[in-house]
Amino acid sequence: MKKFALIQYPFKKSLSSLIFEKYFKKIRFDGSYEDITVSPDNFENEIKIITENFEGFNITNPYKNLIMKYTENFSDDAKKINAVNCVYNKSGYNTDWKGFIKFFPECGKDSGILIIGAGGASAAVIYSLVKNGYKNIYLTNRTEKNAVSMINFFKPYDIKIKNYENLDNELKKADILINASSVGMYGESFSFDHNSLKNIKFVYDIVYNESPLQKYCRENNIDFLGGKSMWFGQAQENLKIWNIYHEKTFETVWKNYLKGVD
Ligand code: ATR
Repeated sequence: MKKFALIQYPFKKSLSSLIFEKYFKKIRFDGSYEDITVSPDNFENEIKIITENFEGFNITNPYKNLIMKYTENFSDDAKKINAVNCVYNKSGYNTDWKGFIKFFPECGKDSGILIIGAGGASAAVIYSLVKNGYKNIYLTNRTEKNAVSMINFFKPYDIKIKNYENLDNELKKADILINASSVGMYGESFSFDHNSLKNIKFVYDIVYNESPLQKYCRENNIDFLGGKSMWFGQAQENLKIWNIYHEKTFETVWKNYLKGVD
């Protein structure tokens, strides 16, 4: 049996284990996919054991950067994002950036794109946008120094910082809003006035569950995508890396999950 897993901390039943288990059954693949919680004090020991014993794995918060110390090499994208979310044969890959851009709407490369958040997910989002030729990228974050580090990391690309305290005004000037922060994951709302979204053409909120922001968009007919789209996109890429991708079957498993049928 080939073993796969999601490495995380703290424990949360993941969408990955739910969907990949269904998918493995459907393709009659002799494999398993489990959620593994690794505590930070034991990361080094456990990750070495997992790397030896698992065919491949995904890795998420808070380890997407730390894992880079324990993989023998990385894809070029992983290096440029400075984060790994997928491992195969002791090599690290980043599939988040491809997952993000896969469902990004057709829009002009000059569109004003305002990104909230300056953590690991935001790095993958920025990399995707830069690599796909978007020119007007603005970044805002609760802690401004993290936004400054992020734009420095992406130099020479010209990403401009906007004041988090002034989000209402910034939203009025932007075409597209991307929430790449974790706000909404536990039902939290942003403090900006949602009326400021009225000129926004598209919202991409990478939070998986229906956040208050997504609910607002749905109720007010603002085009939006939630984090499940990004999950699906990166999951397709993981399966390709692990050499177990059957496009049609995976799409069927995904559609059935979205419809609530098995
Ligand atoms: P991920 O890998 O999912 O991006 P992360 O690296 O921990 O996770 O980053 C979380 C992001 O969400 C950060 O930009 C964080 O802002 P700070 O840099 O100020 O910590 C943002 N975030 C988390 N909780 C927040 C909150 N309550 N309000 C605003 N931003 C928040």
